[in-house]
Amino acid sequence: MTEQESYPVPAEWAARTQVDAAGYASLYGRALGDPGRFWLEQAKRLDWIKRPEIAGDWSFNEDDFRIAWFPDGRLNVAANCVDRHLKTRGDQTAIIWEPDDPADAARRFTYAELHAEMGRFANVLKAAGVRKGDRVTIYMPMIPEAAFAMLACARIGAIHSVVFGGFSPEALAGRIRDCDSSIVITADEGRRGGRPVPLKANVDAAAGHAPSLKTVIVVKVTGANVAMQDGRDHWYEDLASRAGTDCPVEPMGAEDPLFVLYTSGSTGKPKGVLHTSGGYLLWAALTHELTFDYRAPSIYWCAADIGWVTGHSYILYGPLANGGTTLMYEGVPNWPTASRIWEVVDRHKVEILYTAPTALRALMREGDAPVQRTSRASLKLLGSVGEPINPEAWRWYHHVVGEDRCPIIDTWWQTETGGTLIAPLPGATALKPGSATLPLPGVDPQIVDAVGNVLTGEAEGNLVIARSWPGQMRTVWGDHARFFQTYFSTYKGKYFTGDGCRRDADGYYWITGRVDDVINVSGHRMGTAEVESALVLHPKVAEAAVVGFPHDIKGQGIYAYVTLNANEEPSDALRKELVAWVRTEIGPIASPDAIQFAPALPKTRSGKIMRRILRKIAEGDTSNLGDVSTLADPSVVEHLVANRAA
Ligand code: WT7
Repeated sequence: MTEQESYPVPAEWAARTQVDAAGYASLYGRALGDPGRFWLEQAKRLDWIKRPEIAGDWSFNEDDFRIAWFPDGRLNVAANCVDRHLKTRGDQTAIIWEPDDPADAARRFTYAELHAEMGRFANVLKAAGVRKGDRVTIYMPMIPEAAFAMLACARIGAIHSVVFGGFSPEALAGRIRDCDSSIVITADEGRRGGRPVPLKANVDAAAGHAPSLKTVIVVKVTGANVAMQDGRDHWYEDLASRAGTDCPVEPMGAEDPLFVLYTSGSTGKPKGVLHTSGGYLLWAALTHELTFDYRAPSIYWCAADIGWVTGHSYILYGPLANGGTTLMYEGVPNWPTASRIWEVVDRHKVEILYTAPTALRALMREGDAPVQRTSRASLKLLGSVGEPINPEAWRWYHHVVGEDRCPIIDTWWQTETGGTLIAPLPGATALKPGSATLPLPGVDPQIVDAVGNVLTGEAEGNLVIARSWPGQMRTVWGDHARFFQTYFSTYKGKYFTGDGCRRDADGYYWITGRVDDVINVSGHRMGTAEVESALVLHPKVAEAAVVGFPHDIKGQGIYAYVTLNANEEPSDALRKELVAWVRTEIGPIASPDAIQFAPALPKTRSGKIMRRILRKIAEGDTSNLGDVSTLADPSVVEHLVANRAA
């Protein structure tokens, strides 16, 4: 029983921690007991142009719905991440960049150098006409310029919208259109696992579907020959050669937007999650310090991509706000060999490593030798994020990677939450493999049943958060009604996470996965509706239904049921064509892992697709399909079961 399997805080950690068990209890109690006072005190972590006198001002109720933190405060996020460290840490490394190809040289930027590069980029943006409040789309590989560009936006008050470099031109165009962005920052090509990624060509393809796009700034990475459109496209190096490095900071209200980041939901197109300046930065900084017991200048590596919220909060904003040294890795975990992650750890003496269970499962499959070839003596703490970590992967991470000396910090959070909400503190919390353990200060989780009754003690149900916290998203870009509808209408007065959860006898939280139509593929969120819309765009497809199913490496895979138009024949060739089609429409992360051609889908008499049944068939759990009596045509199910995709 994993619930009984517990790992106490190692003595060494108890001795050196900034927050021990009593410290955590005190922080937690104060944050919920006197939130106004607690958060104004915490706000002192940041440098304010005008210090706030108000902490949280929020209500989750429909009639006075509002979320604001430190609304009377003024600050600049970039100044907090860079300028304020210049006096004490000007010569300390802020960013270590590790290239895709281990034969290439790593690069390092001190805080002073980062300050200059950020200022230069900010001046380039200003010269291109970018003003406070404008949206700037960033479609970049994992290179230092991506960090410079994000910080440059923050410096001048522009709102960045980073689009993961693995998204297709179609997906990129949708995200440019949705926030009406007129500028894209990209690179000629990206590099991942030794292969080029045609970023500029993708921007060109997107431009045809994004009429708002007027300016493209291109950073030269591989030197590939790319088309440059006169008047629209500019090489960054040309613009930068004419720009100075001094750029004044734009004073921002704490509630002024910092960024938009698109994420999939259970319905419709991806939502632009909006985060603001003061509360977000405070949450990123506080949680980064608490969960990793972070003390600058420890070498810290979050192996995410800047295109996801993990990259925003825990490669860039949190670590830099804390004056840390953050490693940015251009490549993938298993190239050129399965030892790469551990070699990077050794090369840069990484003390804290933060990665995803899917990467661990893929590496675990290669056996222990690729890990044991390396030293890893520098490692002190190991983090996990993005999906539930299965106890087997947890133990491997703990025993083989960390040689039983590094706590595993399993952090539960979401794009919407800005930063971690539930996680152990290394010096305070006994660990249980597979549990994200306990809430951070200020986080008030509840487990509710389907109709919203709050379940106490040991319980299983849906996870809601009963109070606001500073890092919470503020709205869906351009659709405030959808924001309320999605998160606050299911359970009145509470934020609904979309996750199922169990609380054990020790009060530990165990996330059981999404309870909505969202699939967690390799720690990335994919809406079933999005994949379905992509499939039905294909001329041969009449109807599609997509569900998740257990996948050894990805956690969940994508299983698509496809009904073809009359006169179309199922074939392996068509199956391949549909997979390729979805990759072009959305991106490789949306590739279906299984496609089952179905003459019909199981529907109720009112025409609603019964996903519960489709999920069970995809999982191979066909012995007990539950009540099928409401189906319009029960024989459809027999056909589906008999023809399950392998
Ligand atoms: C969903 C959020 C967290 C930033 C990266 C993903 C799942 C995330 C955990 C964890 C169990 C987790 C949840 C959540 N999730 N971390 N430690 N244990 N589940 O952000 O794309 O917004 O996805 O990922 O289901 O709702 P995201």
